[in-house]
Order: sequence, then structure tokens, then C-alpha cells
Amino acid sequence: MTDCQGDGEGTMSPMELFEKLNAQGEKVRSLKSAKAEKAEIDAAVQLLLKLKVDYKQMTGQDYKAGCPPSENLIVSNNGPAADDCDGEDLVDPWNVSASSTKGVDYDKLIVRFGSSKIDKELLERIEKVSGQRAHHFLRRGIFFSHRDMHQILDAYEKHKSFYLYTGRGPSSEAMHVGHLIPFIFTKWLQDVFDIPLVVQMTDDEKYLWKDLTLEECHRFTVENAKDIIACGFDVNKTFIFSDLDYMGASPQFYRNVVKVQKHVTFNQVKGIFGFTDSDCIGKISFPAIQAAPSFSSSFPQIFGGKKDVPCLIPCAIDQDPYFRMTRDVAPRIGLLKPALLHSTFFPALQGAQTKMSASDPNSSIFLTDTPKQIKNKINKHAFSGGKDTVEEHRKYGGNTEVDVSFLYLTFFLEDDEKLEKIKEDYTSGALLTGELKKILIETLQPMIAQHQERRKQVTDEMVQQFMTPRPLNYKF
Ligand code: TRP
Repeated sequence: MTDCQGDGEGTMSPMELFEKLNAQGEKVRSLKSAKAEKAEIDAAVQLLLKLKVDYKQMTGQDYKAGCPPSENLIVSNNGPAADDCDGEDLVDPWNVSASSTKGVDYDKLIVRFGSSKIDKELLERIEKVSGQRAHHFLRRGIFFSHRDMHQILDAYEKHKSFYLYTGRGPSSEAMHVGHLIPFIFTKWLQDVFDIPLVVQMTDDEKYLWKDLTLEECHRFTVENAKDIIACGFDVNKTFIFSDLDYMGASPQFYRNVVKVQKHVTFNQVKGIFGFTDSDCIGKISFPAIQAAPSFSSSFPQIFGGKKDVPCLIPCAIDQDPYFRMTRDVAPRIGLLKPALLHSTFFPALQGAQTKMSASDPNSSIFLTDTPKQIKNKINKHAFSGGKDTVEEHRKYGGNTEVDVSFLYLTFFLEDDEKLEKIKEDYTSGALLTGELKKILIETLQPMIAQHQERRKQVTDEMVQQFMTPRPLNYKF
């Protein structure tokens, strides 16, 4: 890819170069959101990578958004960044793009973000403490990284409970299968640990970032809440809230938002999120709103005003910047740092290089798709790791590492033995791409149909119930 010998930035100071990097990151983002030509985006990404190399040469440090050369408060809990410059992946709350067809290099991301790998020891502890076999998302490395999960388990072992916090940005009515991953997993956590859950619907965020009206965003909140409820959450243990509603209804929530706002500077969020001087001030202060549910005092109706109930956040790794910021401010405002469990991305049908997009109907399987649409999309669009001809495939076998149908099965086919057999047969060439696709189609069709059936059962009253601030049932 890039050659690592950047030609230096002449007389620029480290801070100027840092700002130039931030601006270039912003440029890449805006080109992407404007759906610019691929060549133009690639060129901008290349320049970004080159600037990173220059920055490293100049400062001896890796460029990290959020870690300006003179002020490295925010990401002080970050580990050293990966130091090779070829094939950097771009991962932040708005962009995910990998430089390899195998997708994002998650081991590198752990190093870059300074989180910890979910290793065998942690898996065994989760099984021991919960008394349950680990969920297949954990066993298969779909949830692959964490922060402070051992502390959550330590406390739980001493009969100190914790709560779960996750969320969704309701940007459209249509949710796809990838959106379900954190919720399926969160439901499992709620069941095995028997603990309360809060779900933040960031309709305010989507209003600020997208060309949508407030009414549309709020309506998407309610529609998406139905899909979330259809995952099977227990109404007695779950509070789903719209930011647009709850911010005004909860004085304690707003107090926590303001505390966070006071302790993070513009410079810091610029670094972490790549905001620029021309971003609206709503965006600039939004991260405080995503931070606030990490603190139990934001929900007095649930925790009776307790400030010290630990929080565990299951989320996709692209949300980590919000929580790096949250964990940095927490001790400075006298509150607990949330713990995190991070998932990989759900790949687009076209390949693991990017995540699915709700705006491209052919990039994903939607929760509203008919059996026929599911079949056609997979047959037409699912990127194959198979060989071009049957003869070659039989001879050399397929590649499960890049095959999207196989990757999807790792998410949705629970039977380990069956999955292993499929892997063997595909790799040896005994199983053809068409046959593999058929297995995926037959796995997804009933799964989606059942989801649609459960969603139909979700009434407006049920949504209302889930979204009413109230005490929840749990034993402490
Ligand atoms: N910003 C997230 C999104 O756009 C929504 C969100 C809010 C979230 N709070 C969260 C996601 C906590 C995971 C965990 O989807």
C-alpha cells in the first residue's frame, strides 16, 4: 500500500500536523457521506495514512484521534498504537473500512484502542460466574474485546449486581440483521445474570447528523423499539428511552450530561471524534449524552439514587470512542467507569471490508425481507470465497475467511459441530458455493420470519410500557 517513507511536513509543528490529520480524517468522512467516487476517497485515505506516518516520524508517537501532542488526557488509558503503516483500517462511529478482504484486523484494533482481548481465561470465568455455557458470539470471537470485564465479575461474585446499557441510533425504519447482534447478546446477558438493562435511542443524534426532522427521528425510535422488544427482553427488567423524551423528563440524567460537558474540552472531542469548527454545536456536545447512561445516578427510578451500581456496555467496537471519553471523565466527576464488551462488525453482503449500511438495500438482509428477497439477495450479492469453476473448487476448495455466507453462519448457526463440518467441507471443495448459500438461506429465512412474527405481537401499549420511566425488578 503506502510506502512508509513520508517526505516530511517541512516546517509544520506537531500540533499543526495533528490538526491537519484531524482535518484530513474529516475530509475522508465527508467524501464518504457524500458518496464521492471511490478513487477520490481512496486518494484521501492514502493522504491520511501518509500524514500518520509523518506524524509518527515527527513525534515518535502514533497519531491517535483524541490524543493531541500536547494534551493526552483523554486517551491516557490507550495502549500504544500499531506501528506499521500498511493496511491501516479506519474505524470510528461513522466509518468502518478495512484494507483487507478479510475485514478489519481486530487484534490490531485492540492494541490501537488499548482494550483487552477476550481470552480463554475470561471466557471460562464468564461461564463459571454465570453458570452457563458462553454464548456462541463469545465462543466464536464475535464479541472479542473488553474493558474491565474482570471487575464486573469480581463484584458479581461478591453478590454486587451491575446493569447493562446499550443503544441504537434510529436513522431509519429499516433495521437489518447486523443491528440485532448487540441486542441478541445483551438479551443473553440479561437472562444469565438476571440484571436490569437500559437502552438509549439516540434520536437526537440522528437529527443532528442526518437530514431528518425531529418527528421522523422520534418515529424511528418507536419503530426500532419494536424490533428491539421483539428480541425478547423482559419488560420488568428493561427500560428503553428516547433521548428526545428522557432528557427533558429526568433531572438526574441532565445533571450527569452537564457534568460530563464541563469536563471535556472542544479540543478533546475534536481529537476523539474529528469534529471541526464548522460542525454544529449539537454534535460537539452530543458525546456527553451518550456518556450519561453509563452512570446509575442517571436512572433514579431504577437505582433509587445509587451512584455506584457498575455498568456494562455491550456494543460494536466503533462506539468505543464515546466510552473512552466516558471512562476518562468518570473519576473526575466522582463516578464509576463503565465496563465494555466489544463486538466485531457484521459484514456487508459484498464482503467483510465494510459494515452493512441501512441506506443500501442490497448490502444487507433487512428484518422486513421476505423469504424470496432473502434468497435472491444471498444468491446474487453474497461475496463468495469459492473458486470460479466447479472443477477448480473441487480441486482447491473455498476460502471461509472471506466467504460472506460462511461468515454469516458463524453469527447465526448455533450448532458448533454443524458449523465445523461446513467449514471442513467448504475448505476441501466437497461443498460448493451454491450449497453453502442454500444452508445460509435456510438458516435466515425461518429466523427472520420468526422475528417478524414476534414483532407483530408488539403492541403500542407494550412499547409505551417499555418506554415509561419506572422501577425495575431485580435482586441486589
Ligand atoms: N450511537 C449509537 C448508534 O448510532 C447508539 C448508542 C447510544 C449506543 N448509546 C449506545 C450503542 C450504547 C451502543 C451502546 O448506533
